Amino acid sequence: MSLAIGVDIGGTKVAAGVVDDEGRVLDSTRRPTPGNDVAQTEAVIAEVVAELSSRHEVTAVGIGAAGWIANDHATVLFSPHLAWRNEPLRDALAEVIGVPVVVENDANAAAWAEYRYGAARDSRVSVMVTMGTGIGGGLVFSGILYRGANGVGCEYGHMSVVPDGRRCACGNRGCWEMYASGTALARDARELAAIAPVSAHRLMTLANGDVDQLTGQLVTQAAREGDPAAVEIYTQMGRWLGRGLANLAAVIDPTVFVIGGGVSEAGDLLLGPARQSFAESLTGRGFRPAADIRLAELGPEAGLVGAADLARRRH
Ligand code: BGC
Ligand code: NA
Ligand code: ZN
Repeated sequence: MSLAIGVDIGGTKVAAGVVDDEGRVLDSTRRPTPGNDVAQTEAVIAEVVAELSSRHEVTAVGIGAAGWIANDHATVLFSPHLAWRNEPLRDALAEVIGVPVVVENDANAAAWAEYRYGAARDSRVSVMVTMGTGIGGGLVFSGILYRGANGVGCEYGHMSVVPDGRRCACGNRGCWEMYASGTALARDARELAAIAPVSAHRLMTLANGDVDQLTGQLVTQAAREGDPAAVEIYTQMGRWLGRGLANLAAVIDPTVFVIGGGVSEAGDLLLGPARQSFAESLTGRGFRPAADIRLAELGPEAGLVGAADLARRRH
């Protein structure tokens, strides 16, 4: 049995785990992502790897990062949510980590994990959509993780869905992730609280009356409790999700869509409206087989499990 460490670096947290070759997480640790600071983020990665390596013998480290990773599996070209710009992440870490390091996009890593061990196990063409700080995308077909010509394919979150719509950190406007993500959940809830405080009463109570504390996680919590305002926000978001999936189906025609990330923890409150709007928006509907839309099975650990497995295979 060989063990690898997977590290998932998102907009808000760094999660790391020791993963065996069956995809099981034997040990894990996490820290908040240091905001906008490249050196500190790298220090945190080194720290979580050191912590786990002190307890386990590992052969490789896989880093899943919320950014655009070049085909060298080493350089973060760009990230809308993190401070990395042309950052030689692998080499910066190689000096402090004693085993081979492989860098992959966080959602590509999650797509790989769901294909190997989760909801897309038996699927020939699987598309992964992770809904967290942004929307992450991945594609595995016939056992191959698709990266595009330059490593930056499958950036589904930056498909334009609203011409001249909400401003996005990628430099464009109207990107899909501005309407369907954890960030969008918080934004929608804050907008509601400003315009319809009576409807947003439960949400504001959960946020201790402070609109700045109104996060996507609180909207998820309120929706699961059945709060009508939060359920409505989720219904709208599910519609955005379904429309985007229909666009992806027009291009990729997958067997299955796997939906993961924190926003997907609301389950059918999101997938119900998503399936409906997908069916209503799908090109050639009624005359073509349609992809199955499923919840991810590996939960928040998908990214680190996939990063670890890819590192074990690639180094
Ligand atoms: C980034 C992706 C990332 C995704 C999820 C998007 O905004 O462009 O690289 O995979 O967020 O973290
Ligand atoms: Na991706
Ligand atoms: Zn964008």
